[in-house]
Amino acid sequence: MATASQRKALVTRAIQAKTRAYAPYSRFRVGAAILADDGTIIEGCNVENSSYSLTICAERNAVFQAAARGKTRLRAIAIASDDPEFLPPCGACRQVLSEFNPAMEIILTTVDGRTKLTSLTRLFPMPADLKKLARPRPVKRK
Ligand code: THU
Repeated sequence: MATASQRKALVTRAIQAKTRAYAPYSRFRVGAAILADDGTIIEGCNVENSSYSLTICAERNAVFQAAARGKTRLRAIAIASDDPEFLPPCGACRQVLSEFNPAMEIILTTVDGRTKLTSLTRLFPMPADLKKLARPRPVKRK
């Protein structure tokens, strides 16, 4: 569980991260901030591309930046956009978040300052988890 002050810090950092969004095509800026178990906060923003489908969401960018810093025990994420409605993470991001904590706390925000606390357990109850599957056997060759 993140503390109330950690949650507040996450929201502030997600809003800051949003200002670095690279979104010249959609003009839809998104920022995310992740709290690691050691208290570190790691930010991410969406980064679009001329080849549109190569775009990365803010949430996945934040997870990958965390992993690149050796932070794979992740407690909570805050997500900020310029929208008056809450922006829940897309399906692909839910799967990526679940890799590092299938019960991660998720703090949704609106541009006018509302917040809603939810969790990955609620938004993504049945993730693909290779760690829980039997190991694939090597293919036998003739
Ligand atoms: N986007 C995110 O970064 N996070 C979301 O949760 C939804 C969508 C980005 C992707 C794209 O750059 C823009 O928002 C419009 O879809």
